[in-house]
Amino acid sequence: VTPDGGSSGAISRRAFVGAAGLTSAGLLAAARSTSAAAAVSQSTDPHAGTVPFYATHQAGIITPAQDSLVFAAYDVTGADRSALLALLRTWTRAAARLCAGELLTGDTYPGAPDPDTGEALGLGPSHLTVTAGFGPSLFDGRFGLAPRRPAALADLPAFAGDALDPTRSGGDLCIQACADDALVAFHAVHNLTRLALGTATVRYVQLGFGRTSSTSAQQTTPRNLMGFKDGTDNLTAQDSKLLERFVWVGDEGDQSWMRAGTYLVDRRIRIHLEAWDRSTLLEQEQTVGRAKATGAPLGSAAERDPVNLKALGADGLPVIPAGAHIRVAAPVTNRGERLLRRGFNFADGVDPATGELDAGLFFICFQRDPRLQFVAIQTRLAEQDAMRRYLLHTASGLFACPGGPAPGGSWGDPLS
Ligand code: HEM
Repeated sequence: VTPDGGSSGAISRRAFVGAAGLTSAGLLAAARSTSAAAAVSQSTDPHAGTVPFYATHQAGIITPAQDSLVFAAYDVTGADRSALLALLRTWTRAAARLCAGELLTGDTYPGAPDPDTGEALGLGPSHLTVTAGFGPSLFDGRFGLAPRRPAALADLPAFAGDALDPTRSGGDLCIQACADDALVAFHAVHNLTRLALGTATVRYVQLGFGRTSSTSAQQTTPRNLMGFKDGTDNLTAQDSKLLERFVWVGDEGDQSWMRAGTYLVDRRIRIHLEAWDRSTLLEQEQTVGRAKATGAPLGSAAERDPVNLKALGADGLPVIPAGAHIRVAAPVTNRGERLLRRGFNFADGVDPATGELDAGLFFICFQRDPRLQFVAIQTRLAEQDAMRRYLLHTASGLFACPGGPAPGGSWGDPLS
């Protein structure tokens, strides 16, 4: 079976269920027989929203952050570059359909499994975005891609306090699926994983719930598991000049194929919530540098008030303490460098060693050059951030995300 998002027409998941029900034998066969229903309007459906898949920049970066994340990394097992490129072609076609809320279709035969795994039937696109990236290991000797490795895709250094699990780190390829519905995001990763059979194996999957940033000025600032507003001073889609400067790769660098692309860094950061919950409000606010209730910088009244790092209190000490997270992460402390943050909360049950919650923030950021941005900022945070006492970085990944595929093109075109 080669269910590759092929050519049998646009069958929306929502319209298909409405017309055919869930009991039909063979989703694909039934979907074909109900193609007329595909034109049914989805405008009143809360799951109906779509994010365009084909664009200059991949979706899922500056498009509004959704509520759910399924992040997967893969090891490529295919023999050569043509197998890798075939997989990326198949994935791109399938992702475009999934983001449009369409069923996956493909060649089939009597008794074949359905090309679409089916769990998202009845759900619309739910603002699904599927973003792909290439890890440093893809550029080793296996696919003849070593000369194409961008200098900016340099392996991340070890940071003070890191406790990285190699089985949950790295990967040749990544897929970041985000949606307003967790099942829709999982369905995307499930089907891409299935399509990879024989060419790539899934290395790890991280689920995330509740965005921990805003990437649009229209979004309200969410709260992270520490209870603080997160994402106030993030870059947003409206900051077009800053995005050109800090997020999108331009003409610089050694690899023109990365133009309009960006680099993704992910960090699975466990938060020692039990210790955090026992700390006082004063300690928490001094750790972050903002008020818990309002998100205002210490010494100010409102969330969006400018951060004054120079202000001194009556005791002569800085109002925003020396180790406060927002001071140590601030552009002014880091040669003006900034990041686009797009992380999510996670909760993966209980740490069997301690009985504590294994929960925290799956930090994702996008940038033009990780060496100048994430690495420089994290080096400082790992040494000076007061928050580090409550954090443990347990996994890490770095991926080059090329520009968006041209209509009908493939994520792999820059590598062909
Ligand atoms: C569990 C880990 C983390 C938590 C809970 C956390 C939380 C926060 C909070 C509450 C803020 C203030 C609101 C805002 O402007 O967004 C903030 C700001 C920020 N954080 Fe984090 N953060 C974490 C990890 C990181 C990491 C790993 C980095 C980068 C290496 C980072 C970079 C930043 C930056 C750049 C800002 C904005 C600073 C400014 O522009 O003034 N954070 N973070």
